[in-house]
Amino acid sequence: MSNSLFRTKSVDKIVAEGSDDSHGGGGLKRVLTTKDLTFFGIAAILGAGSFSSLGGAVYNGGPGVVILFVITAIACAFTAFCYSDFASRIPVAGSAYTYAYASFGELFAWIIGWALIMEYSIGNIYVAYSWSDYFTSFLNKISDVTGAHWLQIPAYLSSSYMEVKHAIEAGTSNQEMLNAWNQAPVIAGIRCIVDIPALIINLLITGLVYIGIKESRNFSNVMVLLKLAVVLLIIGVGGYLVIHGDMTHNWLPLNPEGVHSFMPKGFGGVMMAVSGVFFAYIGFDAVSVLAEESKDPQRDLPKGMIYSLVICTVIYILLTLVLTGAVSYEKFENIGDPLSFIFEPQNLNVGWMQFVVSGIAVIAMTSVLLVFQMGQPRIWMSMSRDGLMPPVFQKIHPRFKTPSFSTIITGLVVGVPILFTDKTFVLDFTSIATLFAFVLVCGGVLLLPRKEKTQGRFHLPYFSAAIFFPLIIGLLVISILLGWIPMISIHQYFHHLGNLDGDTASVTYNVSTIIFWVVTFIIIALSIRKKWSTIPVMGLLTCLYLLTGMTLMNWEWFGSWLLIGLVVYFLYGYKKSKLAD
Ligand code: ALA
Repeated sequence: MSNSLFRTKSVDKIVAEGSDDSHGGGGLKRVLTTKDLTFFGIAAILGAGSFSSLGGAVYNGGPGVVILFVITAIACAFTAFCYSDFASRIPVAGSAYTYAYASFGELFAWIIGWALIMEYSIGNIYVAYSWSDYFTSFLNKISDVTGAHWLQIPAYLSSSYMEVKHAIEAGTSNQEMLNAWNQAPVIAGIRCIVDIPALIINLLITGLVYIGIKESRNFSNVMVLLKLAVVLLIIGVGGYLVIHGDMTHNWLPLNPEGVHSFMPKGFGGVMMAVSGVFFAYIGFDAVSVLAEESKDPQRDLPKGMIYSLVICTVIYILLTLVLTGAVSYEKFENIGDPLSFIFEPQNLNVGWMQFVVSGIAVIAMTSVLLVFQMGQPRIWMSMSRDGLMPPVFQKIHPRFKTPSFSTIITGLVVGVPILFTDKTFVLDFTSIATLFAFVLVCGGVLLLPRKEKTQGRFHLPYFSAAIFFPLIIGLLVISILLGWIPMISIHQYFHHLGNLDGDTASVTYNVSTIIFWVVTFIIIALSIRKKWSTIPVMGLLTCLYLLTGMTLMNWEWFGSWLLIGLVVYFLYGYKKSKLAD
């Protein structure tokens, strides 16, 4: 068994190592409570997704993007239950990686650990870029008010090279992009365009994580309170103006056929917003990597994850309604700071809100950066304990009690690509990899034996799929027979899928949707036969559904990344694994 690619690590062994000093598990301080974990969850979830990528999502999907938020929330809730089930069995650091090691075996565990680099490190590149956008615009606003023009950072020192290059190639009329390109000094034929604020914030966050969890926790809690306050203010002020200003008609804009529609670009348009919407939810799972720093991980981790997810879901739905009510969805094209944009003079015209929102957005993003920058080293620490990464990754700093080497490497993995990537690329890459990890977590729960209910511990409620799915299918058939669901809409849906129209994005969407339905029927049949638990099966299906919104290019990049991961595994981890002879 030890030479098998699917060798698994027993749950008891993982737990024993997690609390054993010789494995580094006892080296971390156990200081976090449910409240801290919920705060960490919100700190990780609420950030660049709502402050930045929401603009693009709304532009693609219109007000109907609310539906995608609900679908994504359902997928994440099912997944959070699966994470909670795993976390209550395996209360040690490592997230989906550790869970996969106990269920699917080493090869899948490695693949997940590799995919999680996308979620934790590459995702932080997007957040750092967004941080820089808001920071720069905040400084510009101060400079406008005070006349201190020295505060303004030139566009070429606050933009990413690739973003500017792509915008210029696409013939942009965006003045900031044009300034960055035209004003940048040229050295050896290369335009020096660098996002300095993004680099500096990464450096500062790395330093903070390096010096310790307790200091980071206090810092993080304050930032979470601030960003919750500003988001509630936006919902309150924006919502009031939308309703009293009689702007609710914006929720039903005209579609190209001239009909009022909640989804002006159809459901295909809504699904184009998947990366942005899903990115906004990433983070609830980061709570699980703090298992070894929690006072009572089996009780507190599931609570922290689920509380933070519920709070953020309500916030997103309200924020999307305020945004799409305040301004027509079409105006969000290329808007990187949508939450402050709606208060600009040509929109709701509330000057002080613009100032407050951009200032606090900087704080909101800082807390997201902090949580992910803390999560990544802890995953590597687990992988290193298992022999899949070099031993130096589990080194704990004698004074600060933090994984010091891994923290520095994380800083480099986030910092170096800031020099040569752009926002769209990292957003798509992060979302596809994280969804992939979620699919494996939900699938992994199905492979673990059911456990006895123990007081004080999270217990995944069991509803047999053998009852649930026949019930749903029965209800569906009755609804069709009674005419509640018109047969014509089902026919149109499948007809549309078969009708590939040659554009790469819709061909990919249609092909992946057809694959999704085939896989769904197989999974439903299997789950009825094997009496699987409904929650993980639904988690699996909803996450697979979200993956249908990814483009062919996303799949190609992600496939290449996984391939590189496999090469690294066979060259190093396979031989050095603690489970190898
Ligand atoms: N959900 C996190 C954010 O929106 C990653 O910034």
